[in-house]
Amino acid sequence: MTEDKLLIQALQGKQTARVPFWFMRQAGRFLPEYKATRATASGFLDLCFSPEKAAEVTLQPLRRFGMSAAILFSDILVIPYALGVDVRFAEGEGPIVEVTNTKQRIEAFELDKVRARLEPVAETVRLVKNKLPEGTTLIGFAGAPWTVACYMLQGKSGKEFAKARQFAQAEPVLMQLLIDKVTDATIDYLKMQIDAGAEAIQIFDSWSGLLSPAQFAKWCIEPTKKIVKALRAYKKEIPLIGFPKGAGLFLKDYAQTDVDCFGIDMNTPIAFAKQHAAGKCLQGNLDPLLLCYDLNGALDETKRILETMKDHPFVFNLGHGMIPEMPIAHVEALSNLLKAYRR
Ligand code: CP3
Repeated sequence: MTEDKLLIQALQGKQTARVPFWFMRQAGRFLPEYKATRATASGFLDLCFSPEKAAEVTLQPLRRFGMSAAILFSDILVIPYALGVDVRFAEGEGPIVEVTNTKQRIEAFELDKVRARLEPVAETVRLVKNKLPEGTTLIGFAGAPWTVACYMLQGKSGKEFAKARQFAQAEPVLMQLLIDKVTDATIDYLKMQIDAGAEAIQIFDSWSGLLSPAQFAKWCIEPTKKIVKALRAYKKEIPLIGFPKGAGLFLKDYAQTDVDCFGIDMNTPIAFAKQHAAGKCLQGNLDPLLLCYDLNGALDETKRILETMKDHPFVFNLGHGMIPEMPIAHVEALSNLLKAYRR
């Protein structure tokens, strides 16, 4: 039997001699080759649904930096799109999503069309899988239902998502209906990614930090638990990473989701996360802004993170996604440090 890939070993809770690494949003606008491919698509969603192009941008960062994993190029907002909700990406504005906050609208979601509409993403997974460099892992992903619902209730990006939080408080029955539909669509979508060849899955809960403890249990932990349960019943050994951004204090509770690895954001001290990891793999957590604006500071901080995590299953990552301003040379220097490092 061949040995499991480095990232898979770490996600299984093994202490690897080399530390696997990848970067959230590693395919994106900081790379000129991404911008070139992006320019050949008529829009961002068109890029997500063009398998050849999406596969190409998935692989671009690995060619430059030799990460341990590729992450499927898609977006968390393909789920509302697949449910029949109007989703657009306006140039320079971010996503614009049709607001779906009525019973009638939520009941009209087209769950039966999700698989067919997301078939191009499954094709991207198959194409990437065929071209993946040896030893590297293909990560599939979806947004967690709460985070996806934030956009469906707010209609656009924000920092507060006040309309989503208000709706969750004022209309708990409708909120549950919305979350349940998004959860079911997400389970279908992730099963498709697994069938097509995704070897691990990350669930992005980018806005879980906006929730009170009681809401966190209800809107973050419960739906994530349901997704994890369904995926484990489908494919027992699939490694699952949960990224509850902004919710480091709730890690102990988040363990109820039964994911294999906790993604840690840059606001959570990694030593604190280690204390609350219950022996599970951790992933994180260099501040992308530090890497962007202070390379030496970032390399020092990386060494500190690696030292803290040297006796624990660990995947190195950023504490949030790459930003368009990121200098390529900084990512190169960080990747070189990580490739040379041995525990
Ligand atoms: O990590 C990767 O390289 C894979 C691809 C990926 C994208 N989005 C591509 C993308 C992943 C994993 C995501 C996840 C995603 N999308 C999240 C969760 C992670 C996070 O950052 O918190 C969220 C909240 C979204 C929703 C979304 N998509 C927003 C808010 C935006 C606009 C913001 C921006 O950076 O412009 C997007 C667009 C988007 N998704 C881009 C990329 C590369 C940039 C758009 C472009 O190229 O025109």
